[in-house]
Amino acid sequence: MPWEDAYKLAIGSVVPRPIAWVSSVSADGILNVAPFSFFNCFAANPLILGFAPTFTDDRPKKDTLANVIALGEFVINIATEATLERMDATGRPYPPDADEFVIAGLTPAPAIRVRAPRVAESPINFECRLHQLVQLGEGEGSGTLVLGHAVHVHVDDGVMDGTRIDPILLQPVARMGGPYYARPEILAFRRSDRT
Ligand SMILES: Cc1cc2nc3c(=O)[nH]c(=O)nc-3n(C[C@H](O)[C@H](O)[C@H](O)COP(=O)(O)O)c2cc1C
Repeated sequence: MPWEDAYKLAIGSVVPRPIAWVSSVSADGILNVAPFSFFNCFAANPLILGFAPTFTDDRPKKDTLANVIALGEFVINIATEATLERMDATGRPYPPDADEFVIAGLTPAPAIRVRAPRVAESPINFECRLHQLVQLGEGEGSGTLVLGHAVHVHVDDGVMDGTRIDPILLQPVARMGGPYYARPEILAFRRSDRT
């Protein structure tokens, strides 16, 4: 099967996918932000989150990946409904010298432990140091899994319910196949003994 067909089947099937809205900075100080839905959390101690830029012929190395390799630091911001249009806008292919914060009307906020900026409009920001790069294939359609060690986490009080993040307050958005996004319908299914 041509890789493009396999890719379409995969992104239509593995849904809904959470979205890492990754902010980074180049060695020249140019700020960058872009969404990645090949994203998840893989370990808690150390806290490891990962996302995967894909290689395409026109974009062998996306700016985010170049920045992560150059500085070894980035921030994963959680995408929510309030910023859906702006998050989507940062997914377009801008040249490396473009600052997507300016283009999308977003506010860079300083991080505490990494040089990459946070997206101030996102209620959750994971400041990450590069833990490992896993090269998955080579050439068109291949990917690079970027595993980051979260060294500092910011959570807006407005999405908290005691010590937990409340999904109803968070209003996360997820990627579906094609041009579609999804918002979760929260099903209240709680056992009192569940941690
Ligand atoms: C919601 C969403 C999810 C995306 N997920 C991915 C992904 O997982 N991997 C990828 O390579 N590109 C993904 N893209 C496309 C990148 O965001 C796009 O190529 C972007 O221009 C990369 O920016 P950069 O060059 O500044 O890193 C996604 C786009 C959108 C809108």
